[in-house]
Amino acid sequence: MLELRNVSFQVSDEKSKENQDKEILKDISFVLNDNKFVVITGPNGGGKSTLAKLIAGIEKPTAGQILWDGRDITEMSVTDRAKLGISYAFQQPVRFKGVTVFDLIRLASGENITIKDACRYLSEVGLCAKDYINREVNASLSGGEIKRIEIATIMARKTQVSVFDEPEAGIDLWSFQNLIHVFENMHDQLHGSILIISHQERILNIADEILVIADGQLVQQGTKDEILPSLLGTANAADFACRQMKAI
Ligand SMILES: Nc1ncnc2c1ncn2[C@@H]1O[C@H](COP(=O)(O)OP(=O)(O)OP(=O)(O)O)[C@@H](O)[C@H]1O
Ligand SMILES: [Mg+2]
Repeated sequence: MLELRNVSFQVSDEKSKENQDKEILKDISFVLNDNKFVVITGPNGGGKSTLAKLIAGIEKPTAGQILWDGRDITEMSVTDRAKLGISYAFQQPVRFKGVTVFDLIRLASGENITIKDACRYLSEVGLCAKDYINREVNASLSGGEIKRIEIATIMARKTQVSVFDEPEAGIDLWSFQNLIHVFENMHDQLHGSILIISHQERILNIADEILVIADGQLVQQGTKDEILPSLLGTANAADFACRQMKAI
């Protein structure tokens, strides 16, 4: 179980005359229970990716605590959190010159897996394995290809918590439904939680729970049936953010 307790994140705003701090996340608290499929959504710039980075340990909160099965991991490094069981797929995946797709999936799995095993993960994310397994994870891969490879590495890791930041970004219309099945299968087979940041209704639709983050605050939280109708009834993101801010 992962818990965020009153988590805030500030950066110094160099543009402001007084060099004031800019609050990116404000007092966020929620519990990610085991075996749950949770989707975070909300307007652009609301703080979703920042929240994912705090969970992964890439950034540290300026206030509040992050707990893992009751243990305080707020100051724990990215590496130690990864070892503990947190996986994180970036909104914009990192490229590794000189590392092949096979190397990356094998490293992610933490085991001496065979090429056949690694190819299975690639096939699951809709890539023709033989065309990719020996390719370098460098700039020559397209946006959609690198996103899929990153999803394959998270599947290979099989950790207790898997965080995906907009996994649908760059995935073509024809492959989108397959991506939904990938997450549904992960949810069925993995004894862990999946936290997906997404703007897509079809991904929101398979969530157990939806969190809405706007202007750095957790403005809505509930089951899909509680949250989705009100989200779909909102005309646009700016209107949505205004309404939410008035409501709290
Ligand atoms: N290190 C930083 N310094 C200054 N501002 C930052 C920093 N990191 C994030 N921000 C700002 O904080 C806000 C939240 O950014 P974040 O990337 O978390 O948004 P998001 O909800 O993921 O948006 P999107 O839906 O567009 O991906 C944005 O306005 C962003 O410009
Ligand atoms: Mg983002």
